[in-house]
Amino acid sequence: MTKQAKERIRQLEDEIARHNRLYYESDSPTISDSQYDALLRELQDLEKSYPELANPSSPTRRVGGAALEKFEQASHKKPMLSLDNALEVSQLLDFDERVQQRLNKDDEQIHYAAEPKFDGIAVSLWYQGGRLVNALTRGDGAVGEVITANVSTIRDIPLELLDFDQSEDGFVEVRGEIYISKAGFAQLNEEAIAKTEQGVPSSQVKFFANPRNAAAGSIRQLDPKVAATRPLSFFAYGLGFFENISELERLTKHSDVMQWLSHRGFPVNVYSEVKKDIHECVSYFEEMSEKRSKLAYDIDGIVFKVNSLALQEELGFVARAPRWAIAAKFPADEQVTQLMAVDFQVGRTGALTPVARLTPVEVGGVVVTNATLHNRDEIIRLDLKIHDYVCVQRAGDVIPKIAAVVHDQRPSNTEEIVFPKQCPECGSTILFNDGEAVARCSGVLICPAQGLARLKHFVQRKAMDIDGLGERILLLLMQKFSVQNPADLYSLDVSALAALPGYGEKSAANLAGAIERSKSTTLARFIYSLGIREVGHTTAKALAKTFGSLASLRAADMETLESVDDIGPITAARVHTFFANKRNQDLVDRLIKLGISWEESGSNHQDESGSTANQPFAGFTVVLTGSLSSIKRDDAKEQLEQLGFKVASAVSSKTALLIAGEKAGSKLAKAEKLKVPVIDEAMLVSLLNEENVQAIKDLINSQHLQ
Ligand code: IVH
Repeated sequence: MTKQAKERIRQLEDEIARHNRLYYESDSPTISDSQYDALLRELQDLEKSYPELANPSSPTRRVGGAALEKFEQASHKKPMLSLDNALEVSQLLDFDERVQQRLNKDDEQIHYAAEPKFDGIAVSLWYQGGRLVNALTRGDGAVGEVITANVSTIRDIPLELLDFDQSEDGFVEVRGEIYISKAGFAQLNEEAIAKTEQGVPSSQVKFFANPRNAAAGSIRQLDPKVAATRPLSFFAYGLGFFENISELERLTKHSDVMQWLSHRGFPVNVYSEVKKDIHECVSYFEEMSEKRSKLAYDIDGIVFKVNSLALQEELGFVARAPRWAIAAKFPADEQVTQLMAVDFQVGRTGALTPVARLTPVEVGGVVVTNATLHNRDEIIRLDLKIHDYVCVQRAGDVIPKIAAVVHDQRPSNTEEIVFPKQCPECGSTILFNDGEAVARCSGVLICPAQGLARLKHFVQRKAMDIDGLGERILLLLMQKFSVQNPADLYSLDVSALAALPGYGEKSAANLAGAIERSKSTTLARFIYSLGIREVGHTTAKALAKTFGSLASLRAADMETLESVDDIGPITAARVHTFFANKRNQDLVDRLIKLGISWEESGSNHQDESGSTANQPFAGFTVVLTGSLSSIKRDDAKEQLEQLGFKVASAVSSKTALLIAGEKAGSKLAKAEKLKVPVIDEAMLVSLLNEENVQAIKDLINSQHLQ
């Protein structure tokens, strides 16, 4: 038996150490918190039963992870301890009994400060003479990483203490938790999803498993500019070492400390309360369990601390935790269930998202049957296979997700998760681009899942410019008239449109008119409306100008496409693949058959309107800088191009004119140095109204003569 216990202890030590590294140092845990706690508990129990086998450097005696090497390190002036956990009410009552016995106060009620246990990362902030001089992570409890630059970007953390008596030049360590709110976390992951959908390689996009990892990952950024963009917040919950601050020496209770912190400018949690005995603590715990999901931030339990600082001192601490405090943990909103299958959903941009189909299981009062898996990288990170047992989590109102795989229980019949080769919606080929975690449907225009987004793009002003087709009407057309792609818009039965909710004869006729008018367009607009990835309206114009006709664009090979000004190999490949797709070809043919037309120039040098007559600034380059308040930048750009300007982004000796909006900076300075004429926003607006054309021409020409 002892031999078995010994073996299991070593196994657990290794496993816990490995998970500590994954959690604390890489911010990428592969098991859930409750699985981790279970391992730690198993080890603690074994050590209790076989004290002779316990290793002095066992993870049960250490706190967290070792300091990261990339940050400078510093020693805490007072150790940053961990907390013992209570997982059941009886353990809370036992804690109170231990406290009373140790203090020899069997019949006296102990007052406890009660406050949420925030799920972020612990930090110690050093203030000297009232100024923030250092910020450290907990590290191993004795030595932490210096993260002052990152911490200074957090608005919640005062750089100078409020109403602080500077005459003493006192020193204090303020302790608390840096966290990211649920909304901030959702926003970070949405941004990450958007990035992968835009084609940023997944290796450059960081997804976080939960708000705690997001906070930890953000605070460990080596570049404070990156940390500054993360929605980090802070709650103060106590003090470490302090000296020469007489007002602190006079405080006798933890609740006084919290008040002092609040007066000095720190956010202190509104639910911090003092309870008169352990039974009040139990009620508080129950009330907070109810409130938990409605809070703006994650909490994973309640911390109860003996309120009297003198009694805290008397109780002291043991191993890794104080005797005067305990963390009552909420039961995890987490259950184990089995992964039955993985389906694939196609998003608006064609991105394929794997969705886990689970054996139904109740998690935190809700039956969960599906969970999102984000992308291929997430499946690899979890090492997930079909039929695996998985831990499903629901944090607050967040969508359920698979937190970890129970690898110990992997059944023998698991199957690899295979991404489909064809789009489940339209049958087009799925593209797996190198370095991208996101797989994508290539059916761009014909895939119904991508339909709405594509239709919206097609009808917009810069594209086919069909007035009156907002998202609501487009959705109705999709549902009631089976409109799936842009060509269907041109085959609508106009008289039937009047039957649309909120539509009458007149609005139906207006819409029909707008659709009809849009048929007469330009090649550039038509190319843009096709929604080829990477082809914005400027690129579309360049393509129209170079190829002159749709036929020659469709026939262009990669080399010819790449030779177009401003078109690189990626865009060239997008255009080429688009026109190589048979379904896209059919759609384009159908659109032309339905009457879309433009004047083809067949030549190389005309603009999209086919004339240069009203282009007084043809041949001149203009640069826009600073911010504009009365016109959108894109619109200004488009209208300048209509006047013949080439709009460039950098100022050089070839720049004919600089338009400087508010807060113009280095480009304005460079233009002044190069004696490039500069006009302001008001002048730009008048120019776009075709006023002052001659004056500006004169201005440009006079400078050219110098
Ligand atoms: S007091 C000596 N209060 O929980 C006791 N800790 O396992 C020091 N935590 O990483 C901790 N909320 O950062 C305290 N209201 C709270 C807390 C809190 C979260 C974290 C703490 C540490 C962990 C302790």
